[in-house]
Amino acid sequence: MKEFNKENVQIILAENELDYEQSAMILTVNDPWAKLGRTYEYSFAKVHEEDGELFVAKDEDRVVGCLLLEMHSTLKAFVRALCVSSENRGRGVGADLLAFAEHRAFKETANVFLFVSSDRAKHFYESNGYKEVGCLENLNITGIHEWIMRKTIGPADEISRIQ
Ligand SMILES: CC(C)(COP(=O)(O)OP(=O)(O)OC[C@H]1O[C@@H](n2cnc3c(N)ncnc32)[C@H](O)[C@@H]1OP(=O)(O)O)[C@@H](O)C(=O)NCCC(=O)NCCS
Repeated sequence: MKEFNKENVQIILAENELDYEQSAMILTVNDPWAKLGRTYEYSFAKVHEEDGELFVAKDEDRVVGCLLLEMHSTLKAFVRALCVSSENRGRGVGADLLAFAEHRAFKETANVFLFVSSDRAKHFYESNGYKEVGCLENLNITGIHEWIMRKTIGPADEISRIQ
């Protein structure tokens, strides 16, 4: 197996069908989507939705992580999904994908929101500047809560005056 080298990893806006297919596969086989029973067809349709922007972390031609950003949802901007393939975790790819999406989002809005249901992933987002702003109890599965997380660069009216 080829050794992982973060220097070779590039983050880009998905540009071809393989990027979409590989991203949908990463989401399908990993929790929380696997636990929720989301099929490959479901994720494939999600990553193609018109109001989403799909960013991929690529090691040469292989997608090792993906992030789906929505810029037009009620919670603008909203990270719908972030996932790094299990063998590539803990090397900064997730943080890099998040920073890339935030850079894009903060050009247009003062807030980035997301939902998270695992303690470990919640800790990851807190380490990257997100704060819990609410909790949706039993949203998808009984006993499993979705925390609403927010990262902000300031009150929206002040930011729009600067921009
Ligand atoms: C959360 C996730 C995107 C982080 O990506 P990553 O490339 O591993 O992250 P980084 O290398 O930038 O940061 C490492 C941190 O991620 C977190 N992390 C590592 N493995 C994780 C896992 N299996 N699940 C959740 N968080 C994990 C830890 O906080 C870790 O910090 P630590 O080493 O101090 O414990 C990735 O672990 C993942 O895809 N998990 C499964 C899907 C998921 O939970 N997505 C988020 C909810 S939608």
